[in-house]
Amino acid sequence: AKIAILISGSGSNMAALLYHSKLPNCPYEIVMVGSNKPDAGGLSIAAAEGISIFAHPHKGMTREAHDQIMHDAVIKSGADYIILAGYMRILSAQFVQKWDGRMLNIHPSLLPKYKGLHTHQRAIDAGDKFGGVSVHLVTAELDDGPILGQCKVAILPDDNAESLAKRILFAEHQLYPHIVCEYVSRFQNPKYLLDKVRALAL
Ligand code: GRF
Repeated sequence: AKIAILISGSGSNMAALLYHSKLPNCPYEIVMVGSNKPDAGGLSIAAAEGISIFAHPHKGMTREAHDQIMHDAVIKSGADYIILAGYMRILSAQFVQKWDGRMLNIHPSLLPKYKGLHTHQRAIDAGDKFGGVSVHLVTAELDDGPILGQCKVAILPDDNAESLAKRILFAEHQLYPHIVCEYVSRFQNPKYLLDKVRALAL
C-alpha cells in the first residue's frame, strides 16, 4: 500500500513509520510527507530519506481551500491512505468524506477519554493509573472514529505532563506502524473478512 503522512511538528511518529517501512515485508511504502508548516522538523528527515515532501501554510485560507490543496498533493503522490501523525488541523467534512475508511490518526490518550488537547495533564489530574495512545479511523467528529488499536502506559506517581508525554511517545512509535501494517493488510485477514460477511448478512 502507498501511504501519505501529514505532520505539523517534529514528526517523530512519521520517523517511526518510515524506519518501520524499511523492515522486511512491510506492507506499506511512504510516497509523500505533507505539512501545513513549511518548517516542520519531520520534512527534512523525510527529504533526506528521498521521500517527496510537500508543504503549504494554511494562513489566510479557508479550511476547505487548504484541505483541497493537501488533497490534490496526496492524490498526485499516488497514495491510497492518509496517515495523520501530529497534523494539528481540524479537517473539513468534505476532506474527511473523501478519505472515508482510508485515513488514520494517532491520539495520545485511551480514547474515548480525553479527546482534544492536553490529554496527559487531564489524565494526571483525574488520578488515572494509566494513560496511553489510540489509533483510530478519522470521521467528521474530532478524535471519535472507530478505534483500531490502543496501548496502555502506566502513570508514575511523580509523572508530570511532560514526562508522561515522553513515555507515551515511545508507545506511539510502537503502536502506529503496527496498526498501519495491520490495517492496510486487512483484506488478507480472515477475521476482518468474516466480520464483513456477517455485517452484510444482517
Ligand atoms: C503525538 O503525541 C501524537 O499522538 C499527537 O501529536 C504528537 C505528534 O508528535 N497527535 P510527533 O510530531 O509525531 O513527534
